[in-house]
Amino acid sequence: MNDQFAAVILAAGQGTRMKSTLPKVLHPVLGLPMYAHVVRAVLDASIARALLVVGHGRDAVEADVKARFDQRVTCVLQERQLGTGDAVRAGLAPLADFQGWVLVLCGDTPLVHVALVRALMERARQSQGALAMLTGQVADPTGYGRIVRGDRGQVLRIVEHKDATPEQREIREVNPGVYAIRADFLRTALARLTTHNAQGELYMTDVVEQAAAQGGVDALSWPFADMQGVNDRAQLAQCEAALRLRMASELAKSGVTIRDANTTYIEIGVTVCPDAILEPNVHLRGSTSIGAGAHVETGCVLTDVRVESGAHLKAYTVAAQSSIGSGAETGPFSHLRPESVMEADSKIGNFVEMKKTRLGKGSKANHLSYLGDGEIGQDVNIGAGTIFCNYDGFNKHKTVLEDGVFIGSDSQLVAPIRVGKGAYVGTGTTLTMDVPDDALALSRVKQSNKEGYARRLKARFEALKNEKKK
Ligand code: UD1
Ligand code: CA
Repeated sequence: MNDQFAAVILAAGQGTRMKSTLPKVLHPVLGLPMYAHVVRAVLDASIARALLVVGHGRDAVEADVKARFDQRVTCVLQERQLGTGDAVRAGLAPLADFQGWVLVLCGDTPLVHVALVRALMERARQSQGALAMLTGQVADPTGYGRIVRGDRGQVLRIVEHKDATPEQREIREVNPGVYAIRADFLRTALARLTTHNAQGELYMTDVVEQAAAQGGVDALSWPFADMQGVNDRAQLAQCEAALRLRMASELAKSGVTIRDANTTYIEIGVTVCPDAILEPNVHLRGSTSIGAGAHVETGCVLTDVRVESGAHLKAYTVAAQSSIGSGAETGPFSHLRPESVMEADSKIGNFVEMKKTRLGKGSKANHLSYLGDGEIGQDVNIGAGTIFCNYDGFNKHKTVLEDGVFIGSDSQLVAPIRVGKGAYVGTGTTLTMDVPDDALALSRVKQSNKEGYARRLKARFEALKNEKKK
């Protein structure tokens, strides 16, 4: 842990331009609220103290922080949103005795990552002055603070877009809002801020001008793509797309084949092992993990699913909170609802739905079935159109199929029910009683054929139809 640094992350603003009831910093980017991306970058840089300045929607933000980071992040309230300078002042409250460097970041920059934080820390360590900061070049600087430099290229101050002259608005070097400042200098500088500006706010950026006047500012230029802020939904989409491509390229480097990074959606908490193949339009969400060499075909949507090595998910497998064992096969068009477990080399095919069911090693349900609340042993074969009738309108009941069972097509198993080892259930059976080991169960009505009867039946129906027409 590094106790030379503390981090203050600003997240009290309203985010009016999002036009949302959800506080801006809670909007997810690849499944993680945007503020949490910044917090993770800070924690990954081993910064011991992380403070989040909250205000608008503070209850929701604090609840999220508690659930996600617990003790590792402290929320500090900014009573009224008087500007970024005031927000930093609020964030410093728990740091009254702190003597090191204070990193200041914004909670609405989800592309910030640990390497960027480390680079700024390194620049601060080497700095003789009191303030180091990042700057970025951007094609369209509208809305950002502009970096004003002197004759020798030294940073003089930051001018906010709304305060800038037409000439200053031409400047493409902007302020991403990422600074490292010596704590004692910062406290003094914040106390001197005024609201004499176009927005009548206390600007954090005015601290930069004070640092420039007393010993200079260390500016480190950094790719702006990592620092883009989110003020509206269009920028939210841009950031998410950029992060998606970044993740895809990292996975590709680690040995994962992603056929079309533009249409593959992989959330932050997902892991994918080398030699896995992800086809276009695959969505991997939550805590999903994909094992080595697994093949996930187009249209698969997996939420919190563990896919083991060598599994093959054919097109349009939809699964949640389930696991798919090594060498297992699903789809096309299979649905695993929560708490489904497919053991190694098991198989479900098209239009098979599982829920809270374990399918044993090597067992198969290849077509059109509902397997709910089931406990299915090894090498069981479940025929097309089999239904586990698990629900009586009030309670759910269990179906147990022991090892080696064979269920003929179009059978209904009325739970609770147990089919013993090696038993055989004939096609079209409605099972209402347990079946002993190795027994044959049948419930069909015996078939009878009436010779020549079809012709007579058709003639009768034809006559009836003609009678009606008259
Ligand atoms: C700010 C910078 C600007 C920079 C830009 C980068 C100032 C004055 N301007 O402008 O130079 O180019 O960020 O994105 O600092 N916040 C609070 N409390 C407040 C006000 C803001 O917590 O009272 C938080 C917001 O939630 C947000 C961050 O501070 O996370 C930045 O605020 P925002 O209003 O978006 O500042 P910008 O106008 O974008
Ligand atoms: Ca902003």
